[in-house]
Amino acid sequence: MQDAHMTVVRVGEFAWSTMEPAEGHFEFGWLDRAIELAAKHHIMVVLGTPTAAPPAWLTSKYPDTLRVDEDGKRAEHGNRQQFSFTSPRYREFAARIASEMAKRYGHNPNVLGWQIDNELAAPSFDDQAKHEFHEWLHRRYGTIAELNRRWTTAYWSQTYDNFDEIPVHSRNQNPALLLDWKRFVTDTWVSYLQNQIQAIRANAAPAQWITTNTMHWNTGFDHYAVHRVLDIAAWDDYFPDGHLDANLNAAEHDLVRGYKRKNFWVMETQPGHVNWGGVNASLPPGVTHEMAWQAVGHGADAVLYWQWRSALNGQEQYHGSLLGPDGTPVPIYAEVQQIGAEFERVNQALAKNGFGSLTDASPHARVAILNSYDSVWAIDFQRHTSKFDYVGQVTDFYRAVEPLAQTVDIVSADADLGQYAVVFAPALNVLPDATAKRLTDYVRAGGHLVLGARSGMKDVDNALQPERQPGRLAEALGGHVVQYYALDAPVPIAGTLGEGSTSVWAETLAATSPTTKVLMTYGPSQGPSWFAGKPAALTREFGKGSITYVGATLDKGLMAKLAVWALDEGSVKPIVAGVPAGVELMERSNGKGDRVWILINHGDTSQTVNGIDGVDLLTGTNVSQINLAGHAVAVVQPAAKR
Ligand code: GLA
Repeated sequence: MQDAHMTVVRVGEFAWSTMEPAEGHFEFGWLDRAIELAAKHHIMVVLGTPTAAPPAWLTSKYPDTLRVDEDGKRAEHGNRQQFSFTSPRYREFAARIASEMAKRYGHNPNVLGWQIDNELAAPSFDDQAKHEFHEWLHRRYGTIAELNRRWTTAYWSQTYDNFDEIPVHSRNQNPALLLDWKRFVTDTWVSYLQNQIQAIRANAAPAQWITTNTMHWNTGFDHYAVHRVLDIAAWDDYFPDGHLDANLNAAEHDLVRGYKRKNFWVMETQPGHVNWGGVNASLPPGVTHEMAWQAVGHGADAVLYWQWRSALNGQEQYHGSLLGPDGTPVPIYAEVQQIGAEFERVNQALAKNGFGSLTDASPHARVAILNSYDSVWAIDFQRHTSKFDYVGQVTDFYRAVEPLAQTVDIVSADADLGQYAVVFAPALNVLPDATAKRLTDYVRAGGHLVLGARSGMKDVDNALQPERQPGRLAEALGGHVVQYYALDAPVPIAGTLGEGSTSVWAETLAATSPTTKVLMTYGPSQGPSWFAGKPAALTREFGKGSITYVGATLDKGLMAKLAVWALDEGSVKPIVAGVPAGVELMERSNGKGDRVWILINHGDTSQTVNGIDGVDLLTGTNVSQINLAGHAVAVVQPAAKR
């Protein structure tokens, strides 16, 4: 590990049966030795609490700690994540192991921080969970009459007499119930984490941070809520088919950076290949290197690899690793070693130039894309067309905007938007009154808001708004949606932005104010059409800013034109103009004017970037232009401070 320039290792996240081989009997000698040995080689440690894999003695003696799936089947031992997230007994055991670990390592100077559990995933539908969901609903609605009203339970005779009658499901139920179940699951994961956070905090130095590792677009819970109780965000970055989608990966980093609106960790990356895809092809040579620097460019303060060495048996024998079962390096080791050497070189060069630590510098964006768990849930419960993919919408906007703005934040629809010149809100389906008010205030104060199709349709209870879309924003827009349509064939669109089409979703719009402009119109059609000549996008200046509603899912070309237009409205310029397509430029700055640029050629053929004036930190030379071979990386400290 030291030879590979590694400075941190994560351990322990599934090692419960080794830490506590029998109830109340703890064995930490092996972990003491591991931490000491790592320290001897200048490697810091992140400790994982082992609660994603309870030991057999625990679940066989206390089967009530095992999770129950939606169809009523209780989990068995032998896989992982088999616990019930509501079980009070499980939480007692979890708090105890976390507390024993923290008592032992909470003040160990070689322990940097904690990862609680591992990839929180599967909720439980056991009796305790049902009981707690009913209590949660009771607290939220106060009376069953209020719940009946807001859920419109008269429909299909769903009317409830008391909270205990309410079914507990995550599918085929009233949309309000489904949305509340997701919120309940979120709150339950929060209290699940808090249980262990309290146990660690009571025994650990404040400098040791606490996180958990998440799975990018996973919609199992609201990641913004969960991260309120965590110190930093961390995620696991995998491309199971071995093909890096650099644009998508960029969006995923920005999504994770948005959880706490600060730098994050990549807790796991694949060394070559995984074992859980359809075809577990390996990333080609050089792409692991490219991914590591891309993570740093987007605000990662650490990049870790899962896993170091193959376990001889167990479910993940085929997963990529840095060492083979014989304990010697496999080919990808050399690439990871190069990454480590470069991180070291860049850190040293920056320190010499008076920059301080790269971890004090972050990406700073003037453009944001909003992400709303309420909206993705609401749409996924009732997609109306299987082709409408919320994440696809967010990333369609991202793919068009990121190359132009070079830095983009993906943030919660509830975030403070003051710093942004332009905000995109793809499919902001659930629009609570408070969010509508904040967005209106944002526009009034000079912001440029672009809403995507399906926005402003639902209220906080997943009920249809009593006004047409975009609901409480229709007045500011000076227009509304007349009707929405799922499409089974492309519909042409034309207008000031150019020509293109929509093939997934189309909403016909109507302007209601003389100051509302039609930005795009549905084109002519051969046969009968709901669309021909009807507005597809409206825009209106409002206060000091503008509000735009795009009622169609746009093809790539039209989306790119919309992005150019919107960024122009907000006077957003790229950090460096003229960066060729396929080359990504990322900036981290520290608020004192110091900046670092990371440039990556994501394509296969070499490219030249002009207009660069600074020091290439990997070669130590002054540069005014950079030549990048396919998949190559440059790290530049620009001469001018900003
Ligand atoms: C997840 C888990 C790891 C491992 C990897 C394999 O990210 O956190 O324990 O199973 O997947 O890719």
